[in-house]
Amino acid sequence: MAFNITMLCNLVLVNDNTELKRKIREMEGEAMYLEVSNLKKSYGEGGSFMEVLKGVSMSVEKGDMCVIQGASGSGKSTLLNGIGGLDRMDSGSIRVDGKEICGLTQEKLSDYRRENLGFVFQFYNLVPNLTVKENIQVCEYISGHPQNLADLLYTLGLTEHQNKFPSQLSGGQQQRCAIARALVKNPKLLLCDEPTGALDSRTSRDILVLLEEVNRKYRTTMLIVTHNNSIKNMVDQVVFLKDGQIMENYRNGKKVCAAELEDL
Ligand SMILES: Nc1ncnc2c1ncn2[C@@H]1O[C@H](COP(=O)(O)OP(=O)(O)OP(=O)(O)O)[C@@H](O)[C@H]1O
Ligand SMILES: [Mg+2]
Repeated sequence: MAFNITMLCNLVLVNDNTELKRKIREMEGEAMYLEVSNLKKSYGEGGSFMEVLKGVSMSVEKGDMCVIQGASGSGKSTLLNGIGGLDRMDSGSIRVDGKEICGLTQEKLSDYRRENLGFVFQFYNLVPNLTVKENIQVCEYISGHPQNLADLLYTLGLTEHQNKFPSQLSGGQQQRCAIARALVKNPKLLLCDEPTGALDSRTSRDILVLLEEVNRKYRTTMLIVTHNNSIKNMVDQVVFLKDGQIMENYRNGKKVCAAELEDL
């Protein structure tokens, strides 16, 4: 869509700066941080052939939080794994910070993951025989620009638990450890697959408040897959997937703080 000066002036009057900056970038043709185009992925052959992503296109602005919702089996994790370079796509394009990642060699893909990404999963995926601190240190060592570990442990409320093993922690503490592990590398893009899926509503809220703080503090771009219908109210962008296709993709004009979300 073309924008002229009058429209921009109106934006200055009615919108905050974020929206204005977005429109200016749009006018200047500046790339979005994440651009997915016509992404396709299928599994199986013959009778068991199934097209899971049927030409998904979406983009996310740098520093935005984006929720991806959809019924079980709609392709959310497949999409997230594609963006995270964990799974090869059949065709289409995924550009992250202007760089194409589809078609990269395994070696280049692991460089991409190491340099850019943090992952948070529903079931934490912590290493059971490493302590909290050691689980986080594993990622600290492989990063070229890690965050201060002691600060991070403090921010996530893990200082007193740092020498415990995962089995000695509650679900919320384990998820905080997993988030610390993802954040210690200062990732530009944080991919969360149902980060609150295994947590009660109070702990879910704590985790979401934390993600919101991290997003504000570090401008980390975040993609959050969730079944929870409330989380979409705290993010900048909402995408609904249905049977491997995008049904809805909109910007959320009225964000609510994570602390004020209802029905978590
Ligand atoms: N490795 C695989 N081999 C075969 N089929 C797969 C594979 N991974 C996923 N699928 C299928 O692809 C479809 C989409 O799976 P996906 O995990 O992306 O769904 P989802 O939206 O994340 O669902 P949920 O909300 O239950 O996690 C499902 O029907 C699933 O069975
Ligand atoms: Mg899934």
